[in-house]
Amino acid sequence: MAIEENLVDEPQAAQKLERGADAGFLWDFWYPAARSAEIRGRGLLKAMLLEVPLVLGRTDAGAAFAMRDSCPHRGIPLSYGRFDGKNLECSYHGWKFDGSSGQCVEIPSLASQDKLKVERIFAGHYPGPFVHQSWFWRSKTSIHEKAKQFEPIANGFRMSTHSPSTNSAPYQVLKKMTGAPVTTTIDFVLPNMRTEEIRSGKLWFSSLTTVTPVRRDLSRIDFLAAWNVPLPVTIFRAFAKTFLRQDQETMIRQAEGLQHNPRLMLIDDADRPAKWYFALKANLIEARRTGAEMVHPMDGPVTLRWRS
Ligand code: FES
Repeated sequence: MAIEENLVDEPQAAQKLERGADAGFLWDFWYPAARSAEIRGRGLLKAMLLEVPLVLGRTDAGAAFAMRDSCPHRGIPLSYGRFDGKNLECSYHGWKFDGSSGQCVEIPSLASQDKLKVERIFAGHYPGPFVHQSWFWRSKTSIHEKAKQFEPIANGFRMSTHSPSTNSAPYQVLKKMTGAPVTTTIDFVLPNMRTEEIRSGKLWFSSLTTVTPVRRDLSRIDFLAAWNVPLPVTIFRAFAKTFLRQDQETMIRQAEGLQHNPRLMLIDDADRPAKWYFALKANLIEARRTGAEMVHPMDGPVTLRWRS
């Protein structure tokens, strides 16, 4: 879902303004809110992204929707309400909102002399189709110096197509299967996406990892993959869980360390991608503020060297 807003009342508009000035979160991007299978029938699902509480559902016509989990009348979470497959009815005073648009369709308490235009009231609504160091990967002793080429791409940077570490067992297996060289291409794109495409002959494995802020102090990692490699899903899940657990542990430890705003020491070349990320984010926010075109922090391909 794209976190942008479609709100009518003033406190919420003021909140949006305040957030516009917030350099912490990147707004107006698509973020994963939930897996499609988690929204069943007319059930409502609560979620939170970028400190915005959400209620998610699916209309009888099959369209998924996301609304701010707060009734524009008195702020009761809409997730306590009842969804009839089209409209979501607030549990408090029964205001009804169209799931597909957030538009108010009924206020039961209105008497015939009331002039209030119900259709001009909207609940917050978001456009939404949506919808490693491991024993098997490599050992500490296999660490060696690497040179990788990076290039600028729209809103991000790419680790150009290259042959991945020959010291990683899965790549060696892949190479044996096809007899062809293994290549990988990795893109990092704002606000939070890492995509990787591994190819060898006719076989490929492609993945998308996103790290989405839920609150200022909490993020969630989502990992999606598709492949034509003969790899059973159960084995893939076990591998993926191990990798993600490592990422999660690292992030938890880092969050602990970052609690007190320490000065960071980002070093060349190993930390250059982290510097590009921070510069991309700052430049994007600046471009949105001024309306000027975004300046990319890289002016061409760069080769970085580090040991891993
Ligand atoms: S708080 Fe939702 S209808 Fe009143």
